[in-house]
Amino acid sequence: MVNQESLVAWIEALQEVYAENKEYLTQLDSAIGDADHGINLDRGFTAVRRKLSETKCEDMSAVLKTASMTLISSVGGASGPLYGTFFLRASAVCANKTELAEADIVAMVEAGLEGILHRGKARPNDKTMVDALTPAVNAMKQALAAGSGVKEILEKGVEAAEQGMTDTIPMLAKKGRASYLGERSIGHQDPGATSSYLMLKTAANLWN
Ligand SMILES: Nc1ncnc2c1ncn2[C@@H]1O[C@H](COP(=O)(O)OP(=O)(O)O)[C@@H](O)[C@H]1O
Ligand SMILES: [Mg+2]
Repeated sequence: MVNQESLVAWIEALQEVYAENKEYLTQLDSAIGDADHGINLDRGFTAVRRKLSETKCEDMSAVLKTASMTLISSVGGASGPLYGTFFLRASAVCANKTELAEADIVAMVEAGLEGILHRGKARPNDKTMVDALTPAVNAMKQALAAGSGVKEILEKGVEAAEQGMTDTIPMLAKKGRASYLGERSIGHQDPGATSSYLMLKTAANLWN
């Protein structure tokens, strides 16, 4: 069962994962962007972790809302407001809950993705984080409908996100900085799709 402690553990683990992958994500962004995606997420999640250690959060929703606000205020790049919106929408799904069941976890990721779509106006195949999250949400919904537990639902989501991430390689970027490159964006994996895959993978490693 996923509770407030599990959410905090996820965010703490995300800080570690993005610190470990700072160079990798920045290197991906150097090919089709401005070489800061890893730096942005490392800075953002370090700030979130610090903020959470100083803040007494009343409930799960407050944890995710704190993460959202901190990401929006500490990350300059496009990914800050986009992930900030993801966490804000996810926090709304947690309102008045003390535990998340299978359906809540799927609803949380789906709401987060809808927030990103609304804010960033990207569509599938635009070569963004949406291309990792959309297949992940679909796979998670399918697993939920098949009666799977939390771990399996997340694992299916991670598998689909990983495929979605590598599927961004041949895509032509239509949103964000990579879109300025036109045809030259082809042949490179999208940094944001990669960080979204890592986000779900980190949850799958922790929650069951
Ligand atoms: N409009 C958008 N919708 C969804 N994702 C986007 C959008 N614009 C950019 N992204 C994602 O953000 C990532 C880049 O993030 P980052 O490097 O932190 O910001 P910036 O592009 O401002 O430097 C891209 O790889 C892409 O996945
Ligand atoms: Mg960048």
